[in-house]
Amino acid sequence: MSTTYTVDSATSRATPTPKPMKRVTVPAIRARKGQPGAEPLVMLTAYTVRTAQLLDPHCDILLVGDSLGQVIYGLPSTLPVTLDMMCAHGAAVSRGSFHAAVVVDMPFGSYEVSPEQAFASAARIMAETGAAAVKMEGGVAMAETVAFLSDRGIPVMGHVGLTPQAVNALGGYGARGRSNAEYDKIIGDAVTVADAGAFAVVVEGVVETLADSIVDALDVPVIGIGASARCDGQVLVTEDMLGLFERTPRFVKRYGDMAGSITDAVQHYAAEVRARVFPSADQVYKPKD
Ligand code: KIV
Repeated sequence: MSTTYTVDSATSRATPTPKPMKRVTVPAIRARKGQPGAEPLVMLTAYTVRTAQLLDPHCDILLVGDSLGQVIYGLPSTLPVTLDMMCAHGAAVSRGSFHAAVVVDMPFGSYEVSPEQAFASAARIMAETGAAAVKMEGGVAMAETVAFLSDRGIPVMGHVGLTPQAVNALGGYGARGRSNAEYDKIIGDAVTVADAGAFAVVVEGVVETLADSIVDALDVPVIGIGASARCDGQVLVTEDMLGLFERTPRFVKRYGDMAGSITDAVQHYAAEVRARVFPSADQVYKPKD
């Protein structure tokens, strides 16, 4: 499978093809922390080229999240997501974007064994997708790996708090940090991952006060999801905020009604096909005079 990320504007569906522009870089993201008057970082998930094209002008970071397992493939969790999937979707998102930094999730099982295993997986992601960085779940246990990759030219975004790849160990997707022990452990995870060299850290599904403490403790940007308005940036799963699903988690704000728009359009189409209204004269080819 070819996963080249070079844009072929002659054959791509990019209409109009966005003008190539300078991408947001990892050092620029890192430098946003503590910049007086800096705006919060805007991050959304993207898995496909067309979505990337639409989100790109408005986002600082496009995350090719392993949430694509549930959103695109209908899998029960992120655990069955493979490196092949992440590489194929990562390359598509790079092809569809020119501005935002593309960050690709390391899938479950591709990095936990050793720093060397993580480097091999991350190097494949970087080479095949053209991403700027990888994202990795885990705290203290992943610190050595974060340092190993960062020291070898692969920028790493950390991910602590509710880490969906650990759903079996955590016992579900509930908010974290309600007990003192859990609160302290998650702060320790965030600080350790940042000290190891992560250029930014996603904090997911934690009580607001814990997210605020992490924002104060880290000297790299903290990007929140189900965390706090005080975070240095925010991320959501795009299909959640666009209203593609009936059920949305409490921390998601719906900015659209994609499910409603699709249902309306498809009902209209089905009715017109059945009534022989579609296609009309405008949609059929006539012989040349
Ligand atoms: O996989 C994903 O989409 C994520 C975000 C929810 C942060 O990791």
